[in-house]
Amino acid sequence: MAINWFPGHMHKARKDIARIMSEVDVVIEVLDARIPYSSENPLVPNLRGTTPCIKLLNKADLADPEITSVWVRHMEKEQGVKALPVSARQPAQIRQLLPMCRELVADRNTEARNIQAMIMGIPNVGKSTLINLLSGRKIAKTGDEAGVTKAQQRIRLGERIVLTDTPGFLWPKLTPPECGYRLAATGAIKDTAFAYDDVALFLAGYLGKRYPEALRSRYGIESVPEEDVALLEAVGRARACLGRGGHVDFDKVSALLVNELRAGLLGPISLETPDMIEKEVADAQRAAEIKAQQKAERDAARRARARKNR
Ligand code: G4P
Repeated sequence: MAINWFPGHMHKARKDIARIMSEVDVVIEVLDARIPYSSENPLVPNLRGTTPCIKLLNKADLADPEITSVWVRHMEKEQGVKALPVSARQPAQIRQLLPMCRELVADRNTEARNIQAMIMGIPNVGKSTLINLLSGRKIAKTGDEAGVTKAQQRIRLGERIVLTDTPGFLWPKLTPPECGYRLAATGAIKDTAFAYDDVALFLAGYLGKRYPEALRSRYGIESVPEEDVALLEAVGRARACLGRGGHVDFDKVSALLVNELRAGLLGPISLETPDMIEKEVADAQRAAEIKAQQKAERDAARRARARKNR
């Protein structure tokens, strides 16, 4: 999937975050609970270093609660990390963040001063919605689009916690390649950057295996095919997404499946688990090693030919 991200913005975001990190007591990283790995900015773990971190798994109302619990346990294996599933639809859940911040920074001498928290998140994970709920007012967005760079914002949250909203462009994980599909499926990537049918096929392949029951009850398909094209075809027939000659219109059914998943109409669904990610990362690493080795072999053969022709 071709997605354009500009190295200039990556560089600026890295510099902005590194500059303020030394003053930060706790990092609040907003993730999409349906795709906690894919929606993480790849710079954060390095830049954060040993600063305590709360991973807010937002949009938990749209995610599979069992898989969200698995992610919470997985994330909290890391020293200094707490994970909190929240939904903007349940503001009481979000207020739990403040005591959690206080608890996490207990050994950082914050009794006589404000706690400095920094919030980060890729576009569309719900960062602005959460900031508005936490502060009780509407706060302007920091620039998260190419070319927009507004100043950092400091927002008082109460309980002597001051939140810094990070400016700059934070981008999601683009490898392994499955991450791109998941970001597109959940609406984190603009619709112009991908083809709906690619994403719908990816989704159909996954949902057919992991969530056949959700498909059965949403679309009334008796026997849910595991194969992606067959499944899209079945959904298309069930929803009368038909074109000429009564054939399934794949563009129509693709848009329908992606939009219904985004809106939560298939029920709570998670698109990745720690085990899936572990395997995909290992596969991507292996593929990169093979590619590098093939390139080295081609280069060596080219050099040998050049020497022979001298
Ligand atoms: P951002 O600052 O990280 O870019 O995200 P923002 O708060 O603008 O939220 C992006 C979209 O996600 C918004 O929907 C917002 O309502 C939705 N959203 C945020 N938190 C949650 C949540 O916990 N659950 C669900 N289901 N949705 C959430 P939108 O359609 O783009 O805008 P709007 O029409 O809702 O204003």
